[in-house]
Formats: sequence, C-alpha cells, structure tokens
Amino acid sequence: MTRDEQPTLVGDLEVAPDDFPVPAPLEGHGPARVIAMCNQKGGVGKTTTTINLGAALAEYGRRVLIVDFDPQGAASVGLGINTLDMDQTVYTALMNSKTDVRSAIVPTAIENLDVLPANIDLSAAEVQLVNEVARESALARVIRPVIDDYDVILIDCQPSLGLLTVNALTAAHGVIVPVEAEFFALRGVALLVETIETVRDRINPRLKIDGIVPTMVDTRTLHSREVLERLDEAFGDLVFTTQIRRTVKFPDASVASEPITTYAPTHPGAESYRRLAREVVARGDTA
Ligand SMILES: Nc1ncnc2c1ncn2[C@@H]1O[C@H](COP(=O)(O)OP(=O)(O)OP(=O)(O)O)[C@@H](O)[C@H]1O
Ligand SMILES: [Mg+2]
Repeated sequence: MTRDEQPTLVGDLEVAPDDFPVPAPLEGHGPARVIAMCNQKGGVGKTTTTINLGAALAEYGRRVLIVDFDPQGAASVGLGINTLDMDQTVYTALMNSKTDVRSAIVPTAIENLDVLPANIDLSAAEVQLVNEVARESALARVIRPVIDDYDVILIDCQPSLGLLTVNALTAAHGVIVPVEAEFFALRGVALLVETIETVRDRINPRLKIDGIVPTMVDTRTLHSREVLERLDEAFGDLVFTTQIRRTVKFPDASVASEPITTYAPTHPGAESYRRLAREVVARGDTA
C-alpha cells in the first residue's frame, strides 16, 4: 500500500485495498486443519515458512502445532528447542503406538505455538516404517489425538518425496508449497503435484493444494519477476498473492532461534508472513 492509499472497511475490519482482513477472534478451538509444507527441493523456505506462518497465526489467536518432520530438526531449533538429547520426539511417537503424543509436544516461547520436535533419530523412521502395517498413515495416527486441541497443524517436511513426506501428505488436509523465485525452481513442482495427486487418489481423497508461496523474491531483478510470471501462468489462482522477499533478517532470526515476527516484529519480512497468515485464513481453508 502506498502512503496515500486509504484503508477500506470490510465489516468492522480495516484493510488496505490489496490486503486481507485481520482474522476474527475464535470462540473455541479445533479441530485443526493439517497443512503439510512441502517441496522436495532443498533450501526453498519450507522451514522458514512453517515457523513464521505458524507464529503469525498464533499472533492472531490461533492455536498452532508445528510438527517437525525433518531429521535435521531445523524447525525445532529455529523455535529455540534443543532436541539433541530429547528422548520424546515425533520419532518415538511414530514408533510406539502406545505413546501419548502429548508427552512429546513442547510449548515454545510464543503463546499459542507448540512443537512436536524432531532430531536425527527420525532418519531411521523411513526404513523402519517400511515393514509396518499402514506405513503411510503412521503420522496421521500420531496427531489424531490432538487434532481437537489446535486450529492449525503445520508439518515441516524434509526435502524428499520419500515415505516420511507421503506420511505428511496422508495426514494433511492441504499442502502449501514454498517455491524459491529462481530459475530452476519450477522444475520439481510438476513432480510434487503428481505425488500429491497420487496420494489423493490412493490414500487421502480430501488432500488439496492450498497454495504456492513464492519465497526469496527480489523484485528488483528481471529474473525474479520472470519466475513469478511463469508461476502465475502455470498455477494461476493457486499462487498466493503474498510474496516473501529475500532478506538477511530470516537467517539472522534462525541464528537467534526465533520467528522473525518476534525477532524483528516490524520488519517487512515479519509483515509478509502476517499477510500470508491473513491470506490463508481469507481463503477459507482454515478458521
Ligand atoms: N525470504 C528469505 N530471504 C532470505 N533468506 C531466506 C529466506 N527464507 C529462508 N531463507 C534462508 O534460506 C535458508 C533455507 O531456508 P529454509 O531452511 O527455510 O529452507 P527449507 O526448504 O526448509 O530447507 P531444507 O530443504 O534444507 O529443509 C535458511 O538459511 C534460511 O534462513
Ligand atoms: Mg527445512
């Protein structure tokens, strides 16, 4: 919004002409919409988007659970959780069907935001699950008991389309795909969409793509603008209108083990994830 554009009123909420209304407060909580943050390409902003969209939704009064589903544990560490010697993680919950997942969930420093942490133990799960009955549904089973406790559950996937990611897609209602605004970014997205369709056809008929979020955008470069145009051509309305700019504040916030929304609350990077949160709610996929 430029300075001289006036906000308009939608209902009793003030919104800029190109913005989305601040989500109305909720009267009660749950059941959660489960959203998998997925892209098999590495380093495209899955974890950054999980943490910051989660933190922004929590600021808007949503109860949010982040499921760290990457053995690197970046989402846990990025939220200040030391997972090294943790004996209760998403891995133990996956492997012991009698464990109560609540005993593995930890609160973060942010109100309304909890984490089901992961550490390197999770790297064994892919092999161990292969011999299990209903191996694709292990994560769905793990989170089922807490679905009613949260409004949104975000699953931070690892960069692969292996069995762990299939578990995330089986547990999910929706998928958000972060796509880095650079030349090779589009290459893998068709394969990802195919995988999502296969999981929908065979295991999880409710699964849909909630949206594609362009990350690390630098609108000063022609290159970045071209990638955005191609994303629009290929995916149209599936592409969120919110774009996440490239800024060093994101790595800085990770080093500080905080979401950017608390590390640099007024920075445009923080505002862009709040806008994404408003857009996700405005699309009607989640309360
Ligand atoms: N908008 C951004 N601007 C600048 N740097 C960013 C941005 N988003 C993420 N980063 C940085 O890029 C790196 C990769 O981001 P992130 O870890 O979120 O990606 P990822 O898709 O989860 O990676 P992986 O596939 O390894 O799990 C991190 O160092 C992160 O701080
Ligand atoms: Mg990651």
